[in-house]
Amino acid sequence: MKIVVIGGSGLIGSKLVAKLGDRGHEAVAASPASGVNTLTGEGLAAAVDGASVVVDVSNAPSFEDAAVLEFFETSTRNLLAAEAAAGVGHHLALSVVGTERLAGSGYFRAKIAQEKLIESGPIAYSIVHATQFFEFVARIADGATDGTTVRLAPVLIQPMAADDVASAVGRVTLGPPVKGIVEVAGPQQFRLDELVRRALSARDDPREVVADPHAPYFGTELQERTLLPAADAELARTSYDEWLGQATAGS
Ligand SMILES: NC(=O)c1ccc[n+]([C@@H]2O[C@H](COP(=O)([O-])OP(=O)(O)OC[C@H]3O[C@@H](n4cnc5c(N)ncnc54)[C@H](OP(=O)(O)O)[C@@H]3O)[C@@H](O)[C@H]2O)c1
Repeated sequence: MKIVVIGGSGLIGSKLVAKLGDRGHEAVAASPASGVNTLTGEGLAAAVDGASVVVDVSNAPSFEDAAVLEFFETSTRNLLAAEAAAGVGHHLALSVVGTERLAGSGYFRAKIAQEKLIESGPIAYSIVHATQFFEFVARIADGATDGTTVRLAPVLIQPMAADDVASAVGRVTLGPPVKGIVEVAGPQQFRLDELVRRALSARDDPREVVADPHAPYFGTELQERTLLPAADAELARTSYDEWLGQATAGS
């Protein structure tokens, strides 16, 4: 099967292309690095020609409110139109658990817009909602840093390894369109401030993490369970400690 992975050079995309290739599929990584730009449409028609499935695991280069909305809206419109013209039978996009509860954030308003276009679009679809990647915890810390202090709400979070995200996306890619949302999450819950404290301490980062219930998360306040998946979410195997051991051994 020819499967086009938009964002195939990214964190999830590169793992997904490798996993689909291992299963014997023709997995094509498509992104500006390989001459395919979903925002401008460059190279898109040729890339999706003959594809059975298109998987969108791209991300916006800028998380600034207007830029990220423009990215996900225009890219998704261009992608769906190119897929309709090429007769693609399944569009899959990766989004985030809790997106619908995070409309106070510019980034998540853009993800909501992406999902709405897919749901009302012409292609049979699947949307995978994943929780925060372990690999993303450092970026959460950076986004919440003021000087040497990291201010975070002590809410619950159930993060997962990017490799497990790619495996889950791969499984959905090879099945029929679910015409809805599949949720995947990590095996354990943490308090967000505690998780970031552990991540920083593992790399001897001296920043102090302060628990503040009103601290914004990508522009919006969080409630206790905003970031948690539903009870029927598929749970990944890799624990944070296991991942941290591998990440530390590799660095
Ligand atoms: N971070 C999290 O914790 C989390 C949790 C759940 C879901 N997600 C979702 O996961 C998705 C993938 O995230 P990621 O961290 O794997 O992304 P990433 O590593 O930042 O990779 C982004 C990818 O998007 C591509 N891209 C950028 N501009 C493009 C354009 N104009 N046209 C086509 N491709 C373009 C990049 O291509 P080049 O390399 O060629 O520039 C790159 O391959 C995102 O949609 C995000 O919302 C993230």
